[in-house]
Amino acid sequence: MIGRLNHVAIAVPDLDAASAQYRTMLGANVGAPQDEPDHGVTVVFIELPNTKIELLFPLGEGSPIQGFLDKNPSGGIHHICYEVEDILSARDHLQSEGARVLGSGEPKIGAHGKPVLFLHPKDFQGTLVELEQV
Ligand code: CO
Repeated sequence: MIGRLNHVAIAVPDLDAASAQYRTMLGANVGAPQDEPDHGVTVVFIELPNTKIELLFPLGEGSPIQGFLDKNPSGGIHHICYEVEDILSARDHLQSEGARVLGSGEPKIGAHGKPVLFLHPKDFQGTLVELEQV
């Protein structure tokens, strides 16, 4: 059911420093910061030949990324995102198998303008999984 790895998201305590490191030390193609108020994050997209990295930094009060950084002050992998062709049928299948979908269970529009859902990390080996319809 799942397709390509769309991105790996890394929460960072210093967005400028992390962006500069990927640009200069790792030689990656690093985009400009983009605010995503609906998700409480500022995102920097890094294009790799086979996938993307997203650097996440808290935006606004109650950002889910702030809680993550409080527990992981030097940052860390926050979630991974798999592509699916049909997010509603993927959701229905996963729920029928006992997986928990976070939030209302209805897809939101994600950072790439496409519908996304998040799956409970306790149901997936301690990893927060995002599904994105492509
Ligand atoms: Co994501």
